[in-house]
Amino acid sequence: MCGIVGYIGKHAAAPVILDGLSKLEYRGYDSAGMAVFDGKHIQIRKSAGRLKVLEELTHGGATMPGNIGVGHTRWATHGAPSDINSHPHYNAEETIAVVHNGIIENYLPLKEKLVSKGYTFVSDTDTEVLAHLIDYYYKGNPLEAITKVMHRVQGSYALGILFAEHPDQIFAVRKDSPLIVGQNEDGCFIASDVPAILKYTRKVYFIQNQEVVRLRADHMHFYTVDEEEITKEPVTIEWDANAAEKGGYAHFMLKEMYEQPKTVTDTLSPRIKDKDIVIEELGMTEEEIKAIHKIFIVACGSAYHAGVTGKYVIEGIARIPVEVDVASEFRYRNPILEEGTMVIVISQSGETADTLAALRESQQLGHKVLGIVNVVGSSIAREADNVMYTWAGPEIAVATTKAYSAQLIALYLLAIKFGKVRGKLDEVAFYRMLEDLKRLPAQIEMLLANKQRIQRFANRYIGAKDVFFIGRGTDFAISMEGSLKLKEISYIHSEAYAAGELKHGTISLIEKGTLVAAVVTQDALFQKTLSNMVEVKARGAFVLAVTNEGNTEIEKAADYVIYIPRTNQYFTNSLAIIPLQLFGYYVAVGKGCDVDKPRNLAKSVTVE
Ligand code: F6R
Repeated sequence: MCGIVGYIGKHAAAPVILDGLSKLEYRGYDSAGMAVFDGKHIQIRKSAGRLKVLEELTHGGATMPGNIGVGHTRWATHGAPSDINSHPHYNAEETIAVVHNGIIENYLPLKEKLVSKGYTFVSDTDTEVLAHLIDYYYKGNPLEAITKVMHRVQGSYALGILFAEHPDQIFAVRKDSPLIVGQNEDGCFIASDVPAILKYTRKVYFIQNQEVVRLRADHMHFYTVDEEEITKEPVTIEWDANAAEKGGYAHFMLKEMYEQPKTVTDTLSPRIKDKDIVIEELGMTEEEIKAIHKIFIVACGSAYHAGVTGKYVIEGIARIPVEVDVASEFRYRNPILEEGTMVIVISQSGETADTLAALRESQQLGHKVLGIVNVVGSSIAREADNVMYTWAGPEIAVATTKAYSAQLIALYLLAIKFGKVRGKLDEVAFYRMLEDLKRLPAQIEMLLANKQRIQRFANRYIGAKDVFFIGRGTDFAISMEGSLKLKEISYIHSEAYAAGELKHGTISLIEKGTLVAAVVTQDALFQKTLSNMVEVKARGAFVLAVTNEGNTEIEKAADYVIYIPRTNQYFTNSLAIIPLQLFGYYVAVGKGCDVDKPRNLAKSVTVE
């Protein structure tokens, strides 16, 4: 969480920093601040609230002259969102300024030690400890002081540090929180994520754990935690800079929903070659695929929901048993990973702390991990043994849409590949599946074109108190995602239930007019879910159904029906999710919610 940007170069630093932070606000947005060296002192301006407050406070950066600075948007962990707890933090003499993303786990003993040595603290943050600790070890050599601190702090951190005595340098440090640096002819940059500096440079260096960078206006030096200089190779970012801008859409979320046909195509087409599925990055021989006894899929939030769909699809197509775990549970439950177990972690950001920890736990237990990841060069992408990228491009809205859709595609591809190699799919079924996959982008487009109808329906529910989503099989998996989309951005309480489970307690919550959204795309389960719809309708629910074209029988149990085009039974989630995303989006818009930045959330959850 939290976003960091730094700049040193020919231009005024503050406007560059504000511009970069505006691309990172999705990472945290309860406060923002900047430190700029004005030729004599390090000036700090910071404030609780959105970045807009800081922009106003500094007149777009004009009141903070200077060509070197660091900035921060915060997602509070230690200490409430307030002016004083905002970053940057100073040492007592105001000669050192620090911005931090991550958590210093041993900050309390360090703080006690510093207090005993006469240091005083003004904030409740763990970050302030870093400013004072660097000060404590600083004897004129910034690199030495920083590496001493790195040896003493535990936890995760990406840091940007200024020293008033070294006004021609910024220091950037990383451990378990993302950080990149980049350079162009006008200066050097640090950032938590690529979109912040994409406008200025496409050549970036991914900082590895326990590395330090010294940035000057015209060059950068990289060091290990033992102060040894190292060389690094830049990576050229291919993303379109416009991809990180709204491009005329009211919100990033809407834009990203509309990008789903492309995302699905981009994730799919490089892996369909000569009427076969070729996943080179899987790094597995056919013998190894045949030897898989069990698959663990581990992820958080929507990525976990994609994993639940993956379970149904892989078990159904490839007949391999799959367990799906929420990463924060997996890592602490001492999982039993036997010989022949494959571990798949799924993550859009590639930085989710629990998912990363689950990956490491699996590797420690001697298992190779396949990462299904969106952000190129992210921690999970680097640490996984093999990486299957979802080519969704930058996703800015906090609520995921296109990356989730791409994750589904990656899982379908694995299921079909495994099914074919293991002899569970005959040629006809295999080719039919490929054809159905290829049709998905056009079908998603058709569903998106129907947005006005869903908007009208959504407008009726902006005052809803509770909404329930029900389904069976993969329809249950998509209900979970539909429910999360609605609640996280509209703040309407919502739950997803396996349709057959509702009457074991939850049905008592159904009142006259309660909206129940039933997803009914599995032909074999159609009558079963229909009965569950009738049960809730009899108790006063208003029933919305999402079902396949042609299933008009549903109209006897539903008050409102959204039809989706026909596809293979295993791929229906890719279509059913579109109206559910649109529904959540338009309810939130109707309520006037901040759709792209819902309260209390952050895009990249780098704390456990
Ligand atoms: C919900 C959402 C989150 C993420 C979750 C995992 O819309 O975006 O639930 O899916 O925080 O994030 P990643 O995929 O980055 O590991």
